[in-house]
Amino acid sequence: MIGYMSGEWWRRAVVYQIYIRSFADGDGDGVGDLPGIRQRLPHLRELGVDAVWITPWYPSPMADGGYDVADYRDIDPLFGTLADAEAMIEDAHRLGLKVIIDIVPNHSSDRHPWFRNALSSRPGSPERDRYIFRPGRGPHGAEPPTNWQSAFGGPAWRRVPSDRDSAPAPHGGTPDRTAVADEWYLHLYAPEQPDLNWRNPEVVADFERTLRFWLDRGVDGLRVDAATVLCKDPAFPDAPPGAGTAFSYGGGPDHPFRDRDEIHDVYRGWRAVVDGYRDRMLIGECWVPSPERLALYLRPDEMHAAFNFQLLQAPWDLNALRKVIDSSVASMAAVGAPTTWVLSNHDVTRHATRYARLDTTGGGVAPGDRAGPDTPLDPPTGLRRARAAALLMLALPGSAYVYQGDELGLPEVLDLPESVLQDPIWTRTNHEERGRDGCRVPIPWERDGPSFGFGPGGSWLPQPASWGALSRAAQTGVRGSTLELYRAALAIRREHPALGDGGMRWHDGEPGTLVLGREPGFRCVVNFGPATVPLPVHDRVLLTSDPLTGAAELPPDTAAWLAT
Ligand code: NOJ
Repeated sequence: MIGYMSGEWWRRAVVYQIYIRSFADGDGDGVGDLPGIRQRLPHLRELGVDAVWITPWYPSPMADGGYDVADYRDIDPLFGTLADAEAMIEDAHRLGLKVIIDIVPNHSSDRHPWFRNALSSRPGSPERDRYIFRPGRGPHGAEPPTNWQSAFGGPAWRRVPSDRDSAPAPHGGTPDRTAVADEWYLHLYAPEQPDLNWRNPEVVADFERTLRFWLDRGVDGLRVDAATVLCKDPAFPDAPPGAGTAFSYGGGPDHPFRDRDEIHDVYRGWRAVVDGYRDRMLIGECWVPSPERLALYLRPDEMHAAFNFQLLQAPWDLNALRKVIDSSVASMAAVGAPTTWVLSNHDVTRHATRYARLDTTGGGVAPGDRAGPDTPLDPPTGLRRARAAALLMLALPGSAYVYQGDELGLPEVLDLPESVLQDPIWTRTNHEERGRDGCRVPIPWERDGPSFGFGPGGSWLPQPASWGALSRAAQTGVRGSTLELYRAALAIRREHPALGDGGMRWHDGEPGTLVLGREPGFRCVVNFGPATVPLPVHDRVLLTSDPLTGAAELPPDTAAWLAT
């Protein structure tokens, strides 16, 4: 095995996020799959990452790109077979890569057998108790049980359809139409994603079985989707004004569905399962604003790590970035957890585009909150900043998550034709929000071909014609390309004793610069100002995000790694 990380690897690993539908297509149907991942894994090894996180691969009607799971212990035929998954895990391990998979506990698909049975069972039945069914309010129960809003737009409740044809009664019986039709079910996301009832011991036990199923197959980590919204106030009160949705920040013990205290019992149970295996980890998708609330998920008997979205949400601004770095490092240090830096993922506008905005303070940093094609952009500046941000992120203490395509400098695709949009946000907002497809466009691997080497066929979302020039093939071996910048940075990060887990401190620098020190002997300097500045005192320049000018001068929107 090559360079395989052991010990608490999640404290320092660089994890590459594979959005499976868009990474590599092995069979030519236009959708990424496991054979595609297997073919391309050596690229990730060469790139120099330590682990991959693969978004949901389970059987799913794909109402939310696979985050609507119909069977937690199998693979969707679109992506391959269970045997393909096992072979992929083996390949990854042979290449020295850890594998993190996505677990989606808040909701299942409406096609999950449990939900089909729930629909055709009576109110109050054990089948319905696995989900959250409630009577409606108002005359004939025609109003939703609460005012809660779905993250994708519209109310978070749907009335049980009175047309029973699509949901046969369990055990072949005849459904009682009156009884089955009168309740509403909760869906904090799309109606095709009914929320599970985490007060039901059968739900708790079944997920623990799922965890073991995948841990037994060798996965090294579990990314917990929507980790803060599993528990709901049993009194089902209306949400106060400004309470937001499952995608919003905030919560706490009094919020009707976000970040409630009972949730921690779930993760204590999960930690006990994971602790039965060696070197495995849980990482939570926790959109909570306060470091104190985030830290609760990282107590020694809960998760090992949680995504820190602060960096991703900050504008390209020295003071803002310094503040989020300080508060993130301090809050995680207080509970002994690693920081986990993220610049982009499959839910937010790609950072090469966020930073290309004339004003980087707004939009695209929360799912569903996107910029349209009319936003004024300066793409070359966006790419310069994205490259500098990569060096800053990879120099910070802790672990870093790289979203597929970041290493190619891919921008958001802002002009996808409306006819191809698939994100439920598009339909649920009555076509007001275009949704997240623009950051999910399939990866260009080759300069040309029908899908730039994504697969032997087309691609489920059209790639811009200009993407051949951004492909892996076009950037390989090209001095100064974004791909070579990432490769060089990851190679240095692997070898340098100061990088990865550990401490950091700020040093004084030229006005407009951030100078981050790691010991022994490492500095990262980033120039946010409008003028070129001299580099701080150093022994050797290890790497720069763009060329220096004159006698070792750092241009605007550029970062340098220095040996001191
Ligand atoms: C967070 C995932 O990242 C997002 O893609 C998904 O839509 C929601 N959770 C619901 O599962």
